[in-house]
Amino acid sequence: MQSSKDFDQPSTRPAPAYDSILELAAYQTGKPVEELTREYGVSDVVKLASNENPTGCSPYVTLAITEQLSNLARYPDGKGYYLKQALSDFNNVAIECITLGNGSNDLLDILARSFVGTNDAIVYSQYAFVVYSMLAKMQGATGIEVPAQRFGHDLKAMRQAVEDNPNTKVVFIANPNNPTGTQLDRDELYQFVASLPTSVLVVLDEAYIEYSPESNNRALLDEFDNVIIVRTFSKAYGLAGLRIGYALSSAAVADLLNRIRQPFNVSRLGLAAAAAALSDQDFITEVRRINDGQMRWLKKQFDALGLGFVKSHANFIMVEIEDAAVINQALLEQGVIVRPLIGYGLENWLRITVGSAEDNTRLIDTLRSILVND
Ligand SMILES: Cc1ncc(COP(=O)(O)O)c(C=O)c1O
Repeated sequence: MQSSKDFDQPSTRPAPAYDSILELAAYQTGKPVEELTREYGVSDVVKLASNENPTGCSPYVTLAITEQLSNLARYPDGKGYYLKQALSDFNNVAIECITLGNGSNDLLDILARSFVGTNDAIVYSQYAFVVYSMLAKMQGATGIEVPAQRFGHDLKAMRQAVEDNPNTKVVFIANPNNPTGTQLDRDELYQFVASLPTSVLVVLDEAYIEYSPESNNRALLDEFDNVIIVRTFSKAYGLAGLRIGYALSSAAVADLLNRIRQPFNVSRLGLAAAAAALSDQDFITEVRRINDGQMRWLKKQFDALGLGFVKSHANFIMVEIEDAAVINQALLEQGVIVRPLIGYGLENWLRITVGSAEDNTRLIDTLRSILVND
């Protein structure tokens, strides 16, 4: 017979919580500017912690949103017809192959919920976007982290991990990868996908694709029904605050994802903004030009400061700094927010978003003064 003691739960465990959820740490977002101002009383804050676009977004977006302001009492189009039409034309895929998400994170979550259960495994690389390991825990599944190779994905080892774990349902690959900025060789990726059983889904997370068009692996969709490409409007398109992303997949996969997603997971403003943003590819070309220029400048400054970095194909760069936690704290106190990577086991590295010329100058001046006085 059970005594009342059998029902005692630690205070951290609300009665029905799964063990794997208790192990989960909440995703650490980049510190919001308002929080730094509150905590340290610093105004004039520079945020280079969330890979946001310092140029903002296309002026077409502002117009599209303004037009929608009188319609806010109405639900959005739950099927997102006009945006899907635009995405279909842009990516040359059928509308039935598109799923919209409240940011691409929503799609990663929907994918895990659709395909991964407690007896399954998810394979991802060490130093890959942290959400993949979180999804494994959320689903009570086994997360298999494959050691990285020069900070990037080791596809041969990942292939072996799938073979060793026949319960693998999904492989997540970020290309370019966050936080390391590494990019995969197209042929190697092709070989990898071709070598997997078709029952294993390969999710290519292309959140930073606009900064590295050569990482675009859209062509894989034509050949492999088990490939899913996930993209976002949060980065180069400058719409992080609106939360909108999309997945391209086979029609059969999209059908399942659309059953799982919430009926109105993308807002009216998000739908209008994303369609307008997509129509302005000149803006994206300009964003890439600015990012490339600022990335070059930053790399020169890191060289001059004697700091190592990993070559990045995105809008951020991982810089090697001894005592990164101490340096991060000193930067915060002077109003500069970057991203420490202790959670990834990268204690001596900071990830720095490529900001505007002004923000980058402030970062380098502040960093130099901290390193000199160290
Ligand atoms: C690799 C990668 N995937 C997905 C996301 C999620 O972005 P969002 O939900 O804003 O589209 C991020 C955000 O930092 C990312 O770096």
